[in-house]
Amino acid sequence: MKAFVYLGPTKKALAERPKPEITAPTDAIVKVTKTTICGTDLHILKGDVPSCHQGRILGHEGIGIVDEAGPAVTSFKPGDRVLISCITACGKCLYCRKLMFSHCSAGGWILGNSIDGTQAEYVRIPHADTSLYRIPKDADDEALVMLSDILPTGFECGVLNGRVQPGCSVAIVGAGPIGLAALLTAQFFAPAQIIMIDIDDNRLEMAKRFGATTTINNTDGKARETVMELTGECGVDTAIEAVGTPATFELCETILAPGGVIANIGVHGTKVALHLERLWDRNITITTRLVDTVSTPMLLNILQSRRIDPKLLITHRFKLDHILDAYETFGHAANTRALKVIVET
Ligand SMILES: NC(=O)c1ccc[n+]([C@@H]2O[C@H](COP(=O)([O-])OP(=O)(O)OC[C@H]3O[C@@H](n4cnc5c(N)ncnc54)[C@H](O)[C@@H]3O)[C@@H](O)[C@H]2O)c1
Ligand SMILES: [Zn+2]
Ligand SMILES: [Zn+2]
Repeated sequence: MKAFVYLGPTKKALAERPKPEITAPTDAIVKVTKTTICGTDLHILKGDVPSCHQGRILGHEGIGIVDEAGPAVTSFKPGDRVLISCITACGKCLYCRKLMFSHCSAGGWILGNSIDGTQAEYVRIPHADTSLYRIPKDADDEALVMLSDILPTGFECGVLNGRVQPGCSVAIVGAGPIGLAALLTAQFFAPAQIIMIDIDDNRLEMAKRFGATTTINNTDGKARETVMELTGECGVDTAIEAVGTPATFELCETILAPGGVIANIGVHGTKVALHLERLWDRNITITTRLVDTVSTPMLLNILQSRRIDPKLLITHRFKLDHILDAYETFGHAANTRALKVIVET
């Protein structure tokens, strides 16, 4: 089969690989029909993710059709259309029982990381019963691909952890696919104000279309002043960090109202200053989270009811044969205006 393979820092190829086989009774083999590229895949290609070794097939998102199910798989059979979760969950370990699937001792984020992933014609899914979701009959395939990772990530790490409530004020720093997913799902709770902050005007324009009440271009580093002005010098109730840099996290620290929450989503590679000398008496909360995908069944229901349209996040489409072009487009988002790219096998 054809597969997109990481060959060590900055090296990658579309290569011929053997079709995966069932190795445990709880495995399923899924024929991938649509997948996508995540910012995390770009991090892997740069060599930033040590758990991902060279030779690995990348990809942790997608939908497909069950090709083969191991003897212990009871919920799925060949021919079933399924959504692949970016998080593999055994459903039985201590962390799974606490609904922290991301920390499953027999899974977690392993797809396209420590085991071969979805940017291929077929993928092996361990613990298939608790890592795949049945696709509703008339659901839109492309919209569903956004449910593997980015929507649960924006919703769980940003909106739920950030305790977004009716009438509250929210600032989202970073209008990439994850920040925009937080913007879409924050609206389930009807906040009064959603301020989107980025340095890319094109992404801010998208944010406006997706429901942001105000957008701020932070190229001059003066977003704080504008947020304070917009909130009557109080600051916001929820600041969602969706970039992953010290500067953007520190911005969140400075725009928070007393009693507010900083919900960190960004993956941080360096240390960040925590200004307790300014925050100790402000009753604030800081949360961190690796997406658990516990909200996937709920998001599937919402998708079915057409209350959100995650398809809005899709800007480009490619065939698997042209996945190198897809990476090129996705990797140069500032020029190509790419958000999510669909790769069809
Ligand atoms: N916690 C989790 O489980 C989880 C899951 C998936 C992704 N992530 C992380 O979420 C983050 C966002 O992901 P993404 O795919 O949307 O990334 P992205 O790179 O596409 O988007 C980041 C955005 O931040 C903007 N930005 C950069 N510097 C800025 C600044 N100083 N001020 C304001 N905006 C700035 C960029 O213009 C860009 O639009 C990444 O760090 C990613 O690794 C976390
Ligand atoms: Zn991802
Ligand atoms: Zn588990």
